[in-house]
Amino acid sequence: MYLEKMRLDGRTAFVTGGARGIGLCCVEALAEAGARVTLADRDEAAVSEAIEQMTQRGYEVEGVVLDVTDSARVTQIAEAAAPFDILVNNAGIARSETPAEEVTDEHWLNVIDVNLNGSFWCARAFGRRMLQAGRGSIVNVGSMSGFIVNRPQPQSYYNASKAAVHQLTRSLAAEWAPRGVRVNAVAPTYIATPLNAFADKEGEMHRRWIDGTPQARLGEPEEVASVVLFLASDAASLMTGSIVLADGGYTCW
Ligand code: NAI
Repeated sequence: MYLEKMRLDGRTAFVTGGARGIGLCCVEALAEAGARVTLADRDEAAVSEAIEQMTQRGYEVEGVVLDVTDSARVTQIAEAAAPFDILVNNAGIARSETPAEEVTDEHWLNVIDVNLNGSFWCARAFGRRMLQAGRGSIVNVGSMSGFIVNRPQPQSYYNASKAAVHQLTRSLAAEWAPRGVRVNAVAPTYIATPLNAFADKEGEMHRRWIDGTPQARLGEPEEVASVVLFLASDAASLMTGSIVLADGGYTCW
């Protein structure tokens, strides 16, 4: 009865930024649970590679090239198909290590555009269809950076974008709960993906990240995907508006 609720047989899922990193692990986790998954990413070559990888592992996954900042195209894709049961708003960028006083307009707007606006365009378009269907589950990928200020790298724009994603999650959850649509978020610690490649693994910054984490390690993308799977599934039927930390204990200190 309990494990059954994690199954997603007959459901459809749409994962943004799904061609690599955390997004690709979400694609695999949802597909393993039985969902028919569409992965969307702005990187066309990465979409093809990801589809090939998933096919080799025995999953039927579809791919679409999409930049989540293109609100018209997001709406067009959401309207073109039957309503999806699950949306994972994972596409995001960091562009870390720029002090606030040196951040250009372009830098600020770009990070907010992908992380916040992109999440909203997708939630609005796919959520509208879910509301028509009277059911759906949206999982946003936030960050512990929505709760704490990372050290030592400055990244005010990123932290602000993820705090906004958390509050967007709670706002949509409250609006849509009466109409059968749940909206939650996962807030990960540092995860070993290309997004963090700017920090040398042998370097001081990396050491400080690990020293600041009770589990004394970075997370793996699969460890975020398993939380996303749980939140997307009926096993989390009472949860909406939750921001679930998956941070190795980072925010305890
Ligand atoms: P990644 O850089 O490994 O992968 C991100 C994927 O999103 C790439 O395939 C990229 O092409 C795609 N993407 C970027 N901008 C896009 C856009 N405008 N439209 C469509 N696709 C786009 O990143 P990672 O680490 O897998 O991050 C995924 C999410 O997890 C992001 O929202 C990130 O902020 C969040 N996160 C990551 C953490 C980390 O330490 N890696 C920690 C906490 C949150």
